[in-house]
Amino acid sequence: MTNLDPGLETLLQHARVVAQRSYSPYSDFKVGAALRLTSGEIVTGTNVENVSYGLTICAERSALVRAVSEFGPGIRIAAVAVANLNGAACPPCGACRQMLAEFVLPDAPIAFPAADGVRAMPFTEILPLAFDMKLK
Ligand code: THU
Repeated sequence: MTNLDPGLETLLQHARVVAQRSYSPYSDFKVGAALRLTSGEIVTGTNVENVSYGLTICAERSALVRAVSEFGPGIRIAAVAVANLNGAACPPCGACRQMLAEFVLPDAPIAFPAADGVRAMPFTEILPLAFDMKLK
């Protein structure tokens, strides 16, 4: 975890704390996500599984729907941190990237555990060419 911005380190701490509240009896994989909004607010979420496995919601989408519910549809996400309590690499899944694309600033740093420690990458590098109905 070298040279991480202190703001991202704080966000990762929030992600680790919320991961402790994970409901993951099927995978035992405890994930937390923390979003920093452009307003400065930090919103967290954890993964919530279901016995009908496909209904599971990831930590990132859990945080996202909470952010919109608390602060409304105009939110913009300035940074994202993801953590898990399993010591595993865990970049956000494709579905979460597409959901984040709707609200995240293109160059927002996305910090996540990788094989070589925590990595931070700009959003457009983890999801180039997100689906969008506008022709750009
Ligand atoms: N999971 C997340 O919370 N975020 C991701 O980006 C990928 C996977 C959760 C879903 C499920 O509860 C568990 O991790 C195992 O896939």
